[in-house]
Amino acid sequence: MHFFGYRGKSFYAEGVPFEKIIKECGTPVYVYSLKTLKRHYKAYDAAFSKVEHLICYSIKANSNISVLKAFADEGSGFDIVSGGELYRALKAGADPGRIVFSGVGKREDEIEYALKSRILMFNVESPQELKAVNDIAGRLRKKAGIAIRVNPNVDAKTHPYISTGLKKNKFGIETGQAIKEYINAKNNLKNVVPIGIDCHIGSQITNIEPFIDALRKTKELLATLRKEGLEIKYLDMGGGLGITYDSETPPHPSRYGEAVIEGTKGLGVTLIFEPGRSMVGNAGVLATKVVYTKEGTEKNFIIVDAAMNDLARPSLYGSYHAIKAVKERSKEEITADVVGPICESGDFLAKDRILPAVKAGEYLAVMSAGAYGFSMSSNYNTRPRAAEVMVDGKDFQVIRERETLAHLIKGESLMKGKKRK
Ligand code: LLP
Repeated sequence: MHFFGYRGKSFYAEGVPFEKIIKECGTPVYVYSLKTLKRHYKAYDAAFSKVEHLICYSIKANSNISVLKAFADEGSGFDIVSGGELYRALKAGADPGRIVFSGVGKREDEIEYALKSRILMFNVESPQELKAVNDIAGRLRKKAGIAIRVNPNVDAKTHPYISTGLKKNKFGIETGQAIKEYINAKNNLKNVVPIGIDCHIGSQITNIEPFIDALRKTKELLATLRKEGLEIKYLDMGGGLGITYDSETPPHPSRYGEAVIEGTKGLGVTLIFEPGRSMVGNAGVLATKVVYTKEGTEKNFIIVDAAMNDLARPSLYGSYHAIKAVKERSKEEITADVVGPICESGDFLAKDRILPAVKAGEYLAVMSAGAYGFSMSSNYNTRPRAAEVMVDGKDFQVIRERETLAHLIKGESLMKGKKRK
């Protein structure tokens, strides 16, 4: 069951035509489907129902507080990478006891905030961070649950910018050193409690093997640590499961679940997962208006009102996003670049794409934009960020207003003092 699709000639999100949303909210606008979000959470939860598990949705993929609330209401935990994401999670009603804190550069104030909020554990990425967490916890007279993020040196076979489990990547601690740090934590660091092992190898991974490779390595580490007398209760396998943007065929969470359950039989751990993209990616669409069309000598251009500041993925990673007409048109097609108004040649949403021959004033739907879409958007070229809308059956609500021009200069001031010539 897909919750985005044509009914007659109109493109719908659940029971709401895009034209209705666009009429009320304008463009560019991100449109999310609540039913899709819930279905994705339930698919993960069901995949691991036979074993102890905790799904910690990775907030960075889409951090709107209504999206977070949709997951929190289902019992989801959260994976955060900043104090800002912790703030959002708590605003959305998250249970702090189901929050894990990842990231290589956690600041002192962020560690303090997380300790005071009583999160489940810190996924520690360096010896210096381990010491910092211990020191800050001591000062606050608290105990910090920790896992060390191990770098298993496996190739996730994905875009180099989003591959994280290789030795050359900045993430995690190599296994040999991690063992030393766990033992150091157990013997010398009184304010940290090592309760988990963490591993995240990359994103948009479309086959099971790299996960199983990483699992094999973390299991060896688990055995070693238990021999050393550490009581490890959690195995955090990170996120990374890919989605279909074009013709990729990633495993369904249920198949991923079967493989992981098979690989962790009898370990006596609670499994943690940090899915981001696979929870929200195909639950969101970016609607945009065709401002002009232009026939160049070599290329046709469809110039739309969404740009790289709204959806950075095509420019940044060369990512493919399918594009559909909001109003299905006659068969006439053109090959064109879909570009935004930003003053850079890298500002495109699609290149050399065969599309319905849309005209100025018509609308396009940029698909699979729910993950790393709005959350990576910026105000470049002093463009207000898009509105966000959540559809629920036949209803929809604005869950983030379009920014106004006043928002854009909020916090800025004109320098005081005499006019200089
Ligand atoms: N856990 C950790 C520690 C992560 O670094 C990430 C993503 C996740 C979980 C969630 O991974 P997912 O399930 O979404 O693959 N902006 C890029 C993706 C960057 C991913 C960063 N880390 C993109 O648009 O493709």
